[in-house]
Amino acid sequence: MKLTNLKLHNFRNYEDVNLEFTEQFNVFIGENAQGKTNLLESIYALGVTKSHRTNKYQQLIRFDTDASLIQGTVEKSTTTTELELDLSAKGRKTKVDHLPTRKISDYFGNLNVVLFSPEDLYLIKGGPKLRRDFLDIELGQINKIYLYELMEYQKVLASRNAYLKQIINYADIDEVYLEVIDEQLAKLGKQVVDLRIQFLARLEETLQKIYQNIAHKDEKIEVSYLTDIKDDYAAQLKANRRQDFIKGSTQIGPHRDDLIFKINGKDVKNFGSQGQQRTVILSLKIAEIQLFFEETNEYPLLLLDDVLSELDQQRQEHIFNAIKDDVQTFITTTDLGILKDKLNKKYEVFEIQEGKIIND
Ligand SMILES: Nc1ncnc2c1ncn2[C@@H]1O[C@H](COP(=O)(O)OP(=O)(O)OP(=O)(O)O)[C@@H](O)[C@H]1O
Ligand SMILES: [Mg+2]
Repeated sequence: MKLTNLKLHNFRNYEDVNLEFTEQFNVFIGENAQGKTNLLESIYALGVTKSHRTNKYQQLIRFDTDASLIQGTVEKSTTTTELELDLSAKGRKTKVDHLPTRKISDYFGNLNVVLFSPEDLYLIKGGPKLRRDFLDIELGQINKIYLYELMEYQKVLASRNAYLKQIINYADIDEVYLEVIDEQLAKLGKQVVDLRIQFLARLEETLQKIYQNIAHKDEKIEVSYLTDIKDDYAAQLKANRRQDFIKGSTQIGPHRDDLIFKINGKDVKNFGSQGQQRTVILSLKIAEIQLFFEETNEYPLLLLDDVLSELDQQRQEHIFNAIKDDVQTFITTTDLGILKDKLNKKYEVFEIQEGKIIND
């Protein structure tokens, strides 16, 4: 899919802009604090109705104004759709082809975006919850069964934990009740883990090809799933009941699992350089685009914020080559660098200064 036109009104530091984009590479260039990321943020928000930088969408409304408006035209192979996101103190409103959508969920899927921003490096550096969330979001987008199983798992888990917290003496525990709960939890938990492992195997295959093309040829990347659950997960839950009672929550299960990225067998979190970590995340985003295409036959937009820093020229060049020509890409940068002569794609440059496009 392609975003061919974008209009902003009172969004961040933009008063009114109307932009026509090219189908391949769109470069937002400018000095710091001019509005490059704001522009990417507006595209991201038009896709998913929220910002990647803040949960308070009111922050997106231009200072001293009451409401923001983002409008865009999305072209897919056979359809053209007009999207609109209105933000005001009263809330968010979405429109598709000028008609209000009743539920936000009816709006999703019209404009798919994959964003890389420097904060994504926390996917490697940060705690396991971030990686579980990543898995849940990515897998959930392409597999509705997974979403369902995960939600069921979370419900049963919440019941088990609530029960364990409510008991005062372990001797009073209702073995029969817990037997039932543990069986259910084990069944759902195992399904969640199996689907995650299957997904990661697929992701790994795509990721390996992309990573190999971007990084040095002798770097091999792996992703593995880390879990404490064993084949007889129900028996494990039973054996852990006393401990779970003391802690007041279930200690083993997919809600505690993690995943790990390795280069040549070494954990990227502890041994990878900044450039390697960045390359892993970028490769992951490009892999995500590929998997999304395999499922839907449409490429999402790729939004790259500040992607070039910390990458040597060769990696920068390889990254651009790894992005398929059909993927419409938006990239922010403070200088054109290698984009000028090494980019074999159709590209358009938007020079940004204080919320205005100055080369129009
Ligand atoms: N709600 C808002 N209303 C008006 N201006 C805003 C609002 N929110 C942020 N800004 C302004 O937007 C500017 C930052 O824009 P942005 O983050 O897009 O910069 P950038 O061009 O990406 O810079 P860098 O190269 O440093 O990343 C700041 O000067 C900030 O004051
Ligand atoms: Mg920025």
